[in-house]
Amino acid sequence: MGDRPPTAELGVHDVIGVGFGPSNIALAIAIEEHNSSVSAGAALRAVFLERQPRFGWHRGMLLDGATMQVSYLKDLVTLRNPSSSFSFLSYLHTQNRLVDFINHKTMFPLRCEYHDYLEWAAGRLDDLVEYDSEVLDLRPVVHEGVIAYIDVISRRPGQPDRTVVRRARNVVIAAGLAPRVPDGVVLDERTWHNTDLLHRLAALPTTPRQRFVVIGAGQSAAEVTEHLHTRFPQAEVYAVFSRYGLSPADNSGFVNQIFDPDAVGEFYHAPESVREMLLTYHRGTNYSAVDLDLIDELYRRTYQEKVRGPRRLHFLRASQVESYEKLPDGTRLHIRHLPTGEKRVLEADIVVLATGYHARDPRKVLGGMDSFCLVGQDGQLQVGRDYSVDTTPDTSAGIYIPGASEYAHGISSSLLSNISIRAGEILGSVLRRQDLEAPLAAIAPGIPHASLPDPPYLDPRPNAQPQN
Ligand code: FDA
Ligand code: NAP
Repeated sequence: MGDRPPTAELGVHDVIGVGFGPSNIALAIAIEEHNSSVSAGAALRAVFLERQPRFGWHRGMLLDGATMQVSYLKDLVTLRNPSSSFSFLSYLHTQNRLVDFINHKTMFPLRCEYHDYLEWAAGRLDDLVEYDSEVLDLRPVVHEGVIAYIDVISRRPGQPDRTVVRRARNVVIAAGLAPRVPDGVVLDERTWHNTDLLHRLAALPTTPRQRFVVIGAGQSAAEVTEHLHTRFPQAEVYAVFSRYGLSPADNSGFVNQIFDPDAVGEFYHAPESVREMLLTYHRGTNYSAVDLDLIDELYRRTYQEKVRGPRRLHFLRASQVESYEKLPDGTRLHIRHLPTGEKRVLEADIVVLATGYHARDPRKVLGGMDSFCLVGQDGQLQVGRDYSVDTTPDTSAGIYIPGASEYAHGISSSLLSNISIRAGEILGSVLRRQDLEAPLAAIAPGIPHASLPDPPYLDPRPNAQPQN
């Protein structure tokens, strides 16, 4: 950062990031590294707004023993800049664990260790991020007949009636994943999505004989099943899913190439029918797919219980929950066995929905910019190879949506595999846009915009509602 002024004193940001998960942390690092290689005048001004009070990455799923599903070499930087000081290896070095990690002979660190790595990286970027800031809306700002800027409206949870406005030339929305909950199911203190697992378990009264029902057959469901079975030695755990068995995640060499940086371009430029075909072929690398070692471990446990008893781990395969009926102290599930049509009723103290996630729809944040963003026949935002949304011709400001464009950029879109390369691509795109414009500092003061002062300022208008 050197002697750049703090972001709050700057009128216009070159980049405002929505969210400070791994995707935008990788971008923040790319910007930092760019800034340290250019003169102060050419440095980009960036700020990232994160609604959590502090950095956190899937905290509710930091289960004991859970490991990453991506090589540590696909960290925040290494594929883009192997000599970066933000690499996982640099982190290990600072923690005095490098040699121990080498002896461990694994490419897949513990998830809690990776969380620590991400937190370490985020901590080094503290002057670029504002926590406790939820972005609610984007509003167009017209300059000389084009939408040259975007006002980013955010709110601090502690100050619900006061929104803050910051002005940007480019907005990068990396809002991540939101839990998918089956239609008609309401989450409450006895029905959870796995995203909240550890927080919910911490608040659970200690009754030894619980019955947990876990819905789903993906990595989350398998991990939750294993965790509950281990942590509550008297509890019964039922796993309910419509597959016949848990399917292993395919991470073999050739198939793994679908996560390579080059695959993104090939996927992006392929005809739509080919994109759909490739997504279908390779769904099993990521969705409804479980690490093989974990499948083997769960199988070993059920077999051992068959031999020795007592039976407390149950797999209701090829089964569908037809309805969830709330009870005063739990849930009654009406379950149909699909091959036979046979029905059974199961009463659960706790239901954990490990029913997956969907990418948060950037349109929930786009707000006032939504009508300037182009939508394809498939109803999806039209997005460029550089992750920028196609906008109306009268818009020169950039909106980028990394993580929310699997339909255009392929299966790695929501994952960690490509975030370092993608950050470099977005940075390159932002810089190319800047080259086409006059220097921001020179034109910013002249922006006609109602009677509002240069941002950041507290928005005097009625408060907007959070959109997601
Ligand atoms: P991420 O969700 O991490 O971050 C988005 C951030 O935006 C959040 O911090 C959120 O609070 C913030 N935000 C959202 N809306 C906002 C708003 N309006 N205003 C301000 N802030 C806002 N992938 C992989 O490749 N390898 C792996 O091992 C794993 N492991 C894994 C484990 C578990 C339990 C899950 C659920 C998922 C994974 N994933 C994964 C996939 C996962 O998507 C990936 O690890 C990253 O979280 C993607 O990073 P992002 O920054 O895109 O989203
Ligand atoms: P997922 O792979 O999408 O699996 C969701 C499961 O829920 C599937 O089995 C699906 O059924 C089922 N399901 C969906 N809707 C349902 C409904 N309405 N009723 C009943 N069942 C329903 O989700 P995930 O396991 O949470 O994994 C999501 C992502 O997070 C993946 O990228 C995964 O790799 C990642 N993750 C990584 C780790 C790790 O790093 N170790 C841990 C957890 C998650 P079908 O089987 O019919 O599709």
